Amino acid sequence: MAWTVKPSATTVIEQRDKPYLTPKMKQRYTAELLPRYEKAMGALVPILNDVQHRYRCVPYQAMVEIARFLQITPADVLDTASFYEEYTTEPTGRHVIAVCQSFACEICGHQAILDHLRRKLDIEPHETTDDGKFTLLALECLGSCDTAPVALINDDLHEHLTIEKLDQLLENLPD
Ligand code: FES
Repeated sequence: MAWTVKPSATTVIEQRDKPYLTPKMKQRYTAELLPRYEKAMGALVPILNDVQHRYRCVPYQAMVEIARFLQITPADVLDTASFYEEYTTEPTGRHVIAVCQSFACEICGHQAILDHLRRKLDIEPHETTDDGKFTLLALECLGSCDTAPVALINDDLHEHLTIEKLDQLLENLPD
């Protein structure tokens, strides 16, 4: 891999006037999350989850706000957010389909499922359909290897997946 130099120190982050972390959210984090952890950094993942669910993304401005709130560096937030495929800087579709691509699912046929979704939705993993309905992800082990192949559709885990079962699940999703 070749190192690519990026002007990160001078990058201008797009800002909107309204903060992503509202006073109400901060109050809730202070009351419910911070007391659970010895260090503020411990609350980072739960806060990232909350922001991703609320806005369907964690934009760079939100990362800076989270860093300020937790009194950590924006680089700490970016390091964690960029480690997990679940966090996106652009809004995901209204439904996120995340197919497990780790070993147990791989040997139980995850590729056929992923290929079917790529053809059906006409997108590649980590892309969103033009109508904003679906985002397709390929994730590492979802912790349900004994029921492979599996996928998350939004927050629900679906086990022993087949193409027929998947098609039916997609048909029943609201617009
Ligand atoms: S490999 Fe797919 S759930 Fe573990």
